[in-house]
Amino acid sequence: MLEVNDLHVSYGAVNAVRGVSMSASAGRITLVLGSNGAGKTTSLRAIHGLLKARSGSVKLDGKEILGRSAHRQVRQGVVMVPEGRRIFPSLTVEENLRMGAYTVSRPDAQRTVAGIYEKFPILSERRSMPGGLLSGGEQQMLAFGRAMMSQPKVVLLDEPSMGLAPGMVDRVMSRVREMADTGIAVLMVEQNADAALAVADDVVLVQRGEVVWTGTAENAQSDTALVHAFLGEAALA
Ligand SMILES: Nc1ncnc2c1ncn2[C@@H]1O[C@H](COP(=O)(O)OP(=O)(O)OP(=O)(O)O)[C@@H](O)[C@H]1O
Ligand SMILES: [Mg+2]
Repeated sequence: MLEVNDLHVSYGAVNAVRGVSMSASAGRITLVLGSNGAGKTTSLRAIHGLLKARSGSVKLDGKEILGRSAHRQVRQGVVMVPEGRRIFPSLTVEENLRMGAYTVSRPDAQRTVAGIYEKFPILSERRSMPGGLLSGGEQQMLAFGRAMMSQPKVVLLDEPSMGLAPGMVDRVMSRVREMADTGIAVLMVEQNADAALAVADDVVLVQRGEVVWTGTAENAQSDTALVHAFLGEAALA
C-alpha cells in the first residue's frame, strides 16, 4: 500500500503541488483526474523521487520512502511508467523488457519475460523488432511489460492512453485493470476520464495543486455535476 500525505512540490516560486494526499492499495486502481497543469505529473514524479518535494510523506507499507531515488524505489517495489512511455526505440522489444529487470536475478528475469510474453503475445511476436517500430498501443504494452519486469507492488502510470487511437484506449485500460487484478496497487493519472472511470476503483480529483474531491469511481461517475465542474464537457464525451 502506498500512502501519500500532504505533499508539497514547488518549481522555484511556483507551488505546483500544495498538500496533496492520496493512496493506492493492492488490487485497486486509484485514478487521479484533473485538468492541464493541475499538478498530476508533478505529484507522480515527486512520489517517485524524480523531483524533490518541499515537504510531505510517502509511505510504502508504512515505511517512509519520500526522497528515495527512483532506482531505490524500484528495488522496493515502486515503479513508474512515465508520460509518453519512454521506451528505447533502437533497442529490441526483448532488450527493452530486460532493461526493466535490473533489480531481479537472471533466472527470475528469464521467467518474468516468459510470463510477459504469455500475457502480451504481440510482444513475443515482435521480440526482435526495435521498440521504435511498434505502434503506439504496442509501445504502451511494452512499457507496461517493462514495468512488470521488476515484479512491482505499486505501479505509477502517467497518462497511459495519451496519443493512442481511440480504439486502443479501452484496451489499454483493460490491461491496467488486469495489472491491478494481479494484486498490484495502481496509481494512474489519466485525462481520458470516461475510459479510465470504467476500470478505476477510487478517484482523486486534483485542481491547481490541491485535492478537491475523493471518492469511489462509481460515485464520480454518477456525480455528473462534479465531472462537469472540474473536467468540462470533453470529459463526458
Ligand atoms: N519544469 C517545470 N518548471 C516550472 N514549472 C513547471 C514545470 N513543470 C510543470 N510546471 C508547472 O507546474 C504546474 C503543474 O504541472 P504538471 O505537469 O504537474 O501538471 P499536470 O496535471 O500533469 O498537467 P497535464 O495534464 O498538462 O499533464 C503547472 O502550472 C506547470 O506549468
Ligand atoms: Mg501531466
